[in-house]
Amino acid sequence: MSWKPSASRRSAKDSEPVSRVFAARPASISRYWETLSFRLAAGYALAGFAFLFLATASLYLVLLRELEKSTALFIADKLNVLRTMLRERPSDWNALREEIELESSARRYQRFYIRLLDGHGAPLLTTPGMAEQLELARLGTEASNRRGPAFEMAGKRGHAFRVETALAPVGAAAASNDIVQIAVDISQEKELLAGYRRWFWTILLGACGFLPLIGYRIARQGIRPVEEMAATARRISSMNLRERIRAEGYPFELAALAATFNKMLDGLEDSFERISRFSADIAHDLRTPVNNIRGEAEVALARARTMEEYRDVLGSCLEEAVRLSNLIGDLLFLARAESPLALLDRERTDIAQLLGRVREYYEGSAADAGVLLTTECPSEPILAAVDQSLLQRALSNLVSNAVAHTPSGGSIVMSAKADRSNLQIEVSDTGIGIPAEALPRVFDRFFRIDTSRCGMWGGTGLGLAIVQSITVLHGGNVRIASEPGAGTRVTLSVPVALPNMTES
Ligand SMILES: Nc1ncnc2c1ncn2[C@@H]1O[C@H](COP(=O)(O)OP(=O)(O)O)[C@@H](O)[C@H]1O
Ligand SMILES: [Mg+2]
Repeated sequence: MSWKPSASRRSAKDSEPVSRVFAARPASISRYWETLSFRLAAGYALAGFAFLFLATASLYLVLLRELEKSTALFIADKLNVLRTMLRERPSDWNALREEIELESSARRYQRFYIRLLDGHGAPLLTTPGMAEQLELARLGTEASNRRGPAFEMAGKRGHAFRVETALAPVGAAAASNDIVQIAVDISQEKELLAGYRRWFWTILLGACGFLPLIGYRIARQGIRPVEEMAATARRISSMNLRERIRAEGYPFELAALAATFNKMLDGLEDSFERISRFSADIAHDLRTPVNNIRGEAEVALARARTMEEYRDVLGSCLEEAVRLSNLIGDLLFLARAESPLALLDRERTDIAQLLGRVREYYEGSAADAGVLLTTECPSEPILAAVDQSLLQRALSNLVSNAVAHTPSGGSIVMSAKADRSNLQIEVSDTGIGIPAEALPRVFDRFFRIDTSRCGMWGGTGLGLAIVQSITVLHGGNVRIASEPGAGTRVTLSVPVALPNMTES
């Protein structure tokens, strides 16, 4: 049966954790090298191995040196005794014999042999058994060939010896020299060192197998949180933005990463909710006027009507159509203002004049509502490079809100002031105010507080959103402060931006 790649198979693999995907592929070092756990494990193993190697090698060297030193001391000691005897009592043959023939052969553990030769190389005294252990002729030639004070030599029975040859002046006058040769059997030391070497190699070989395994386990454990995060990220979709990473027990760095990730998800969830609510609100707000028009037309067409009745129906249809087209206009405006290509048509503007125009426009409706509308500007003119029509639109939205929410007898003040860099425009009223819990949301699109609060027809809930967009387009910000029952103050703050303007 031939195997064909199928879409479902491939997609199943796509969602597998990284490690398993790698495991399923043909093993090649470069593939594994791409995984973090493999690199970490290799790093741990190499570092551990290097440390062990250095530790065992240095221990071995210290041991080797100590053994060599103790042999050298032993030889020097013997040599010293013999030299002293030869110098001070050269004719005390018995003492010499005791030292060379008896003392040496009596030793059980540290075997050593001494040969005393006269100045021409003829043997005078020899430790019994030396000829069985060492080829004495070779000992003589080796001694004259080697330069160093001591050398190693293999014995006849496979033992290793350390040999030192030295001149020993005879008598106090030192008229002639004897030659002393001392050979110490160092087979036991050699065996000890070989044992250590075997043991060290066993440790190192064991470490070769053990360290990568331990390293791999540690690395896997360290990386598990990351994989869990990846798994959570994979589970997240627009339908499932509630998913969060539970970072309990994570190491500090990864807990911080998880917290950042969760925070990002909070933000995404919030934006997503806003967008969903926004689309639902658009649909709702478009449907209402369309339904009204449709209802009026249906009722009007149900039977014959007088001219007057048709006129009324057309009139209210027109009103709904205007409302609809205003709403669509506002939505389009917001969409354009959010586009990165949105451009401002900045002009040198006298802000006092601009406020004056807005006041003139709203004076009538303010007077109808029994509200006093005034402007307050410093005596010297305030000039700023702003998009006049946009700023006028923002101020109109603010003043219309103020007029709508200020009971008769109240007042509305539009004021402006500027320093070198910033222009500040404020619209404050003595109206009904905004409850504290609603304040953070008044700039949201379609957000409206209970429309029955004011007698007029409620707006679309886009007014303050547009104010905010216009201010942000100008590179500034908007703040709102309000106290229920006392009034509301909205402050726009935008950079003056005059120096960059080309004079027109
Ligand atoms: N000056 C104000 N005084 C009291 N409430 C206000 C004021 N300005 C705005 N609001 C409240 O903020 C809400 C949002 O304002 P806005 O975005 O202009 O929408 P709209 O005016 O279309 O309802 C309004 O529904 C209103 O309740
Ligand atoms: Mg409004």
